[in-house]
Amino acid sequence: MNVFSQKPFARIAGLGSYLPEKVVTNHDLEASLETTDEWIVSHTGIQQRHVVVEGQNCSDLGIMAAKRALEDAGISADELCMVICATCTADYENFPTTACLIQGAIGAVNAGAVNLNAACTGFPYALAFARSYCACHGAPVLVVAAEVISRLLDWHDRSTCVLFGDGAGAAVLVPSDEPGLVDEVLGADGTAGNALIRPCGTRFPIDGAVGVPFLQMNGKAIFPFAVRTMEDVIYKLLERNNLKLSDIRHVIPHQANRRIIEAVARHMDVPVERFFLNIDRVANTSSASVPIALDDLYRAGSIQTGDRILTIGFGAGLTFGGNLLVWNK
Ligand SMILES: CC(C)(COP(=O)(O)OP(=O)(O)OC[C@H]1O[C@@H](n2cnc3c(N)ncnc32)[C@H](O)[C@@H]1OP(=O)(O)O)[C@@H](O)C(=O)NCCC(=O)NCCS
Repeated sequence: MNVFSQKPFARIAGLGSYLPEKVVTNHDLEASLETTDEWIVSHTGIQQRHVVVEGQNCSDLGIMAAKRALEDAGISADELCMVICATCTADYENFPTTACLIQGAIGAVNAGAVNLNAACTGFPYALAFARSYCACHGAPVLVVAAEVISRLLDWHDRSTCVLFGDGAGAAVLVPSDEPGLVDEVLGADGTAGNALIRPCGTRFPIDGAVGVPFLQMNGKAIFPFAVRTMEDVIYKLLERNNLKLSDIRHVIPHQANRRIIEAVARHMDVPVERFFLNIDRVANTSSASVPIALDDLYRAGSIQTGDRILTIGFGAGLTFGGNLLVWNK
């Protein structure tokens, strides 16, 4: 019997993240695009992004983040019962899954492995499913969110390519007597999916007429959706748990655009400083954005035992969601 069994809850026991070494600054982009550092900073808050080099793939980033999270948790890979990989930029379009590649590489020989695609909301979704699986099965679960969005982008399209970056974040969950992962709100509006789409897959037969397979985005449609759903998720999580925003130590939003966070803060009548931001350094890393930010805060020593944390995301689908955590690592 596993030593963790009989524990009804789950908590985060370890965090890790990884950013590829190559950095592309706004000034670098000025050389190849009709854009300026001033435009990108003033419209998004982004100053630079990390991107993979040739031969570096989604699983490579995920493996690095996973190893760091396992080391931080003091858990060996063979103790894991499940590896969940949140990604929308998997190594292979269909299979094998990136979760299987990570499971194999880290030696999680007793774990199942599954990809989860909720686009940029991937981490809140994965954390939600992982907390149930972890508590049910009484054994550690690894959540990895890894993305190489740079490979989906048309680097000649200034309206999309300046916004994104690559990276990975990971969390190890263990069964717990006290709830570390407390609650989640997950949602979607599948009627609005065309706002962010990559037109490839079985709808686009390999030998048929294929559109340009780059990411396509209607940024103006997503902006108000993001502001509304982020605010909704925060209020729902607070209300359901009889909390006020002042009870929350850290709010960690998906890092898509600083102006989206500023708009949420304005609507909620709180200073933007209530939200943790690292978008200037990492840009939008899709599902990896929230766990990279969480790990940044953690490694900076800013998270104390007992701190309540909200993680909030939104993304393609369209999807949205968030988690309420109490830090008891
Ligand atoms: C994409 C986004 C940054 C665009 O900002 P915006 O203020 O709406 O800018 P607009 O699209 O109105 O463009 C304004 C002008 O800047 C131009 N522009 C767009 N990208 C530019 C760039 N990188 N550099 C310089 N100019 C640019 C446009 O062509 C437009 O020019 P025009 O007025 O001559 O037509 C913003 O809409 C956004 O962040 N939306 C949400 C997207 C998102 O979060 N996606 C991820 C979901 S997970």
